[in-house]
Amino acid sequence: MNAAASPTEIPTDPARLAEAFRLFNQVSEELSTAYGALERQVEKLTAELAAANAETQRLREQAERNARLAAMGEMAAQLAHQLRTPLAAALLYAGNLENPELPAASRTSIARKTVGRLKHLERLIQDMLLFARGEALGRETFAVADLIGDLAHTFEPLARQRGVAFDPPDVAAGLTLTGNRKAIAGALTNLLENALQAASGHPAAKVALGVTASAGQLAFSIRDNGRGMAPDVVARLFEPFFTTRPEGTGLGLAIARGVARAHGGGIDVASAPGAGSAFILTVSRGSAGGQPPT
Ligand SMILES: Nc1ncnc2c1ncn2[C@@H]1O[C@H](COP(=O)(O)OP(=O)(O)OP(=O)(O)O)[C@@H](O)[C@H]1O
Ligand SMILES: [Mg+2]
Repeated sequence: MNAAASPTEIPTDPARLAEAFRLFNQVSEELSTAYGALERQVEKLTAELAAANAETQRLREQAERNARLAAMGEMAAQLAHQLRTPLAAALLYAGNLENPELPAASRTSIARKTVGRLKHLERLIQDMLLFARGEALGRETFAVADLIGDLAHTFEPLARQRGVAFDPPDVAAGLTLTGNRKAIAGALTNLLENALQAASGHPAAKVALGVTASAGQLAFSIRDNGRGMAPDVVARLFEPFFTTRPEGTGLGLAIARGVARAHGGGIDVASAPGAGSAFILTVSRGSAGGQPPT
């Protein structure tokens, strides 16, 4: 019989059995130590990866903020121009108020116009600040039905006054969203105002607001059967100060997109001249990983 046991043979000699056990224990211990070391290595690498991810996120946020500030620098000259017109008008009106001969009715009317121009200025400045400070948006969890209720409350009388049908959606009571309620309401208000402006005056004018929830996202749709837009207008929609309205600031959509992006979403547009427009604003339902506006 061969002295060396083959791997499948179990040794019967007690000395060899003891040696086999000793070897087995030694290998087990070595394996267990190696496994422990491997586990620690995995933990270390996981921690390093998390730190690297956090650093990447921080750098990306910084780069986006820098890009936004650079864009704001470019916008400064345009902004000065935007502020100059309402300011000049307000100054002109206020100057008229100095006239002691002015009848009371004219005085009231001029004062009202002055306040109107100053309010326009204030809105421009507030919009600019929202655009610049996008990353400082606070977050809360709220019922989507409450948000829609608030919007409908504000928007319904305006639509009625302009002869535009408006249909707010029914939203499931349990549907919630985490994000900045005020900013999201502002973005949707702008889309609704745009839709109202586009639809009013058209036959059977209507604006429809819809909400669709999917696993991680909420999509708000704002559709109108108004004038629609040519491709060259669609291409410039989100440019700050791009407007086709004499009273417009052209900041509404730039800010709305910034808000959607800050909530991990965006805005899609479908439109054609004469065929109305559809704007879909999406936000992430948790939105913790949202990016600052760009
Ligand atoms: N639903 C729509 N139908 C047709 N045109 C639209 C619609 N929404 C936006 N637009 C076009 O896009 C332009 C830019 O819209 P945006 O909301 O950014 O600025 P605005 O409405 O002109 O001014 P404001 O700053 O007061 O909102 C509008 O002037 C208009 O020409
Ligand atoms: Mg607008």
